[in-house]
Amino acid sequence: MRVLVVGARGLVGSALVRAGAAHGWVGLDRAACDVTDAAQREAALKRYRPDAVVFAAGFTDVDGAALSPASAGVNAQAPGEWAREVETWFFSSNFVFDGPGPHDPTARPRPGSVYAEQKVAGEEAVLAARGHVVRVGWVYGPGGRTFASTVAARLGRGETVRATHDVLVQPTHADYVANAMLALPRGVTHLAGRAETSWYGFALAVHARVGSGRVEPVRADQLGLGPRPRDARLAPALLPGCWER
Ligand SMILES: NC(=O)c1ccc[n+]([C@@H]2O[C@H](COP(=O)([O-])OP(=O)(O)OC[C@H]3O[C@@H](n4cnc5c(N)ncnc54)[C@H](OP(=O)(O)O)[C@@H]3O)[C@@H](O)[C@H]2O)c1
Repeated sequence: MRVLVVGARGLVGSALVRAGAAHGWVGLDRAACDVTDAAQREAALKRYRPDAVVFAAGFTDVDGAALSPASAGVNAQAPGEWAREVETWFFSSNFVFDGPGPHDPTARPRPGSVYAEQKVAGEEAVLAARGHVVRVGWVYGPGGRTFASTVAARLGRGETVRATHDVLVQPTHADYVANAMLALPRGVTHLAGRAETSWYGFALAVHARVGSGRVEPVRADQLGLGPRPRDARLAPALLPGCWER
């Protein structure tokens, strides 16, 4: 089966390319194929003739999505455009839900931000075209700029990191996501790590490895971020958790 990964330079996309390499999966980064450009999409489909596309591109700055005119194109419009041409697996987000979790794949999304609304629109268009949706959250791993890598860098410089103690998270390693994707799960799938903690707990785990700096617990409303779900945990949580790693 010929599989094409678009958005292949991101955290999840690069893990997919690593895992899929042995199966002949091909990855295209934004420079090779801008997913919002119809001509580039057609050229990629003509050149690689994939049986399946894994759509790992995304405008992933949650607060920035409300401000950038480019965000809707990649999060909401392009996924359906690809799915209408080729069987497509679209990466969506746990942020399509609000509390209380954990949320089942059949639960009705309740988006609370522009980013989440865009992801819901992307999901609906993909499913209407008989494509598939994979929701993830709190992904960490090599190569990307993630909560874990940012915290590790700051602690390494001896800084104090503030992390919320009142939001539950399911840290999920990108390599586990990528390995689970080799089966190309159909319909709507949740890929989440089994071990739950708070951002504060996650930061403490990073601190235990880095050995310097300090982690300070805060409430979510003390960080001044844009709208976030109160509880976006995904069910079932099938993947190994960060503590098991
Ligand atoms: N990481 C998480 O915790 C998390 C949580 C929930 C959902 N997700 C979803 O999972 C997917 C992958 O996330 P990620 O963590 O791998 O994000 P990421 O590291 O930010 O990667 C996203 C990739 O999409 C690419 N991209 C953006 N616009 C594009 C365009 N118009 N055409 C082609 N490529 C484009 C980016 O290219 P550049 O490298 O050139 O910028 C980047 O490589 C996204 O849909 C995201 O919303 C991730």
